[in-house]
Amino acid sequence: MRIDIVTIFPTFFDVLDISLLGKARQAGIIQLGVHDLRDSTHDRHRTVDDTPYGGGAGMVMKPEPWGEALDGILTGSDDPLLIFPSPAGDVFTQAMARELSTESHLVFGCGRYEGIDQRVFDEYSARGRVRLVSVGDYVLNGGEVATMAMIEAIGRLIPGVVGNPESLVQESHEDGLLEYPSYTKPAQWRGHDVPPVLLSGNHGAIEAWRREQSLARTARVRPDLLP
Ligand code: ADE
Repeated sequence: MRIDIVTIFPTFFDVLDISLLGKARQAGIIQLGVHDLRDSTHDRHRTVDDTPYGGGAGMVMKPEPWGEALDGILTGSDDPLLIFPSPAGDVFTQAMARELSTESHLVFGCGRYEGIDQRVFDEYSARGRVRLVSVGDYVLNGGEVATMAMIEAIGRLIPGVVGNPESLVQESHEDGLLEYPSYTKPAQWRGHDVPPVLLSGNHGAIEAWRREQSLARTARVRPDLLP
């Protein structure tokens, strides 16, 4: 998969050099391009924003740098999907992460200030696929943190990124439920015991206990996820 990011804070994405996604890049499973939006400006101050038409607080990102940056990235791409992180978008879920993990080219446009001039969305929606995606019902200062969260959730679902694919199957949200609690050695720690069933060697009983824990935790914390 190819991933391009347009941002005014390119160094923010330096962390994608490390950990599993860093390894996936080294292995050539993910190709990443991080683009400074200010490289697509042509004035002395490298201006990316201006005051809103109609008045109001805050600044709006100008369309021209976005147009130049995105044209450069999209030219020659087969079937790119352009994603703008926005609190006004569809809510990002594990199901969406799975769907997006099959794309060949994702382009993230990280807005700042009060947002990006609407005509940028209109232009690229007329030319191809564009999605506005929210990572939750709260407001961030810009799209960078949301993009990082999405790239991590999507990237780890690409075959070869996570060493043991089994570990993807058993985690929270994959079966619509929250994950059961996990334990490792020692069997006793500060007076807390590992549940005896996990030491029993009885795989059927362990499976049943985990399912029951998942259901109970989901009912307690996220009843909205239960059918
Ligand atoms: N930008 C600002 N807030 C956001 C959110 N909740 N999700 C995605 N992008 C955002």
